[in-house]
Amino acid sequence: MKKYGLNELRQMFLDFFESKGHLVKSSYSLVPHNDNSLLLINAGMAPLKPYFTGQEVPPRTRMATCQKCIRTGDIENIGKTARHGTFFEMLGNFSFGDYFKHEAIHWSWEFLTEVVGLEADRLYPSVYLEDDEAFDIWNKEMGIPKDRIFKFGKEDNFWEHGAGPCGPCSEIYYDRGEKYGCGKPDCTVGCECDRYIEIWNNVFTQFENDGKGNYTTLKQKNIDTGMGLERLATVVQDVDSIFDVDTIKALRDKVCEISGKEYKKEYKFNNQCIMEIMNGAKKDLPNATVVLVLGILSLIFCWCYGFFGLILGIIAVVLAGGQRKLYLQSPDEYTESSFKNVNAGRVCGIISICIAGVVVVVLLLVLMGIVAGIGIASFGL
Ligand code: SER
Repeated sequence: MKKYGLNELRQMFLDFFESKGHLVKSSYSLVPHNDNSLLLINAGMAPLKPYFTGQEVPPRTRMATCQKCIRTGDIENIGKTARHGTFFEMLGNFSFGDYFKHEAIHWSWEFLTEVVGLEADRLYPSVYLEDDEAFDIWNKEMGIPKDRIFKFGKEDNFWEHGAGPCGPCSEIYYDRGEKYGCGKPDCTVGCECDRYIEIWNNVFTQFENDGKGNYTTLKQKNIDTGMGLERLATVVQDVDSIFDVDTIKALRDKVCEISGKEYKKEYKFNNQCIMEIMNGAKKDLPNATVVLVLGILSLIFCWCYGFFGLILGIIAVVLAGGQRKLYLQSPDEYTESSFKNVNAGRVCGIISICIAGVVVVVLLLVLMGIVAGIGIASFGL
């Protein structure tokens, strides 16, 4: 298989669906218009919702886009898996009351196996467990053996994001090989590891969710497909993760250059994300170590040299105040570890001030006692 670049794959997808009569449109804005249910566009279908519901007439009943998306729902997985990113591009072909399951399934297979050249033996479809029609298309029309078609429940194979058009879906997984697997004996399609990676989602959009869990059947049957462009590039280029595909690697290399960090070498996780490298580019607070050292010294000295400990403690606390202000004004600029050091130094300083204060007061009292004693003895009072 040729290792196409990410930009080439995007164009190949759009050209393919243009040849199937789709109107190709550029990505819509990431900011939704007239949609209060979303803060940011999270799927190719999101800006097209009114065409699915029949509320608006589409410019053509077949459309294709490569949509910029932001999905914060996956944020906890970023940097941990090979396949999750906050920002990504979603390739999508859409039918608004035009073609349905049959064409959508055939074309997704044709694009992946004949245009891109993925090995059919490494592809596994999944269907919603009650969707016998989709199962039969895969099995009888596409010739995929029954034991290679996976049936999943609503959680995996029913697509919806809050209110709006939704429906059962059929996904296509790619087996990246044992080297990416978790090694568990039951590792297969649906496993959380990075071996079987979902690349294509055919959604059979035939319902509308009112946002309260009530479903109505839409006037028309639609198709909403989505394929993560970076995921496709990951399997085509046979690289470790979405952060290693050509275009993202170029960005990552620039980030490494700016931060002076080396990807993978200075980070223990293989799939460390750009965000974390950027954290490596943060500076330490300028006097964090000084505050910590002063705080510790003040704690050591306050027991035996009360006055000295008191002075060091006061300097540590005052200096810590300035460093804390600096951090709280721009937390993105400074490392959290240096902020922790400042806080530790400050706590040591406060404790020493208290201890040294007591020591100094006791010393003063003793001194006063001695002076008073001398006075009494001298004057014979
Ligand atoms: N809307 C579906 C998804 O985001 C398919 O485009 O996966």
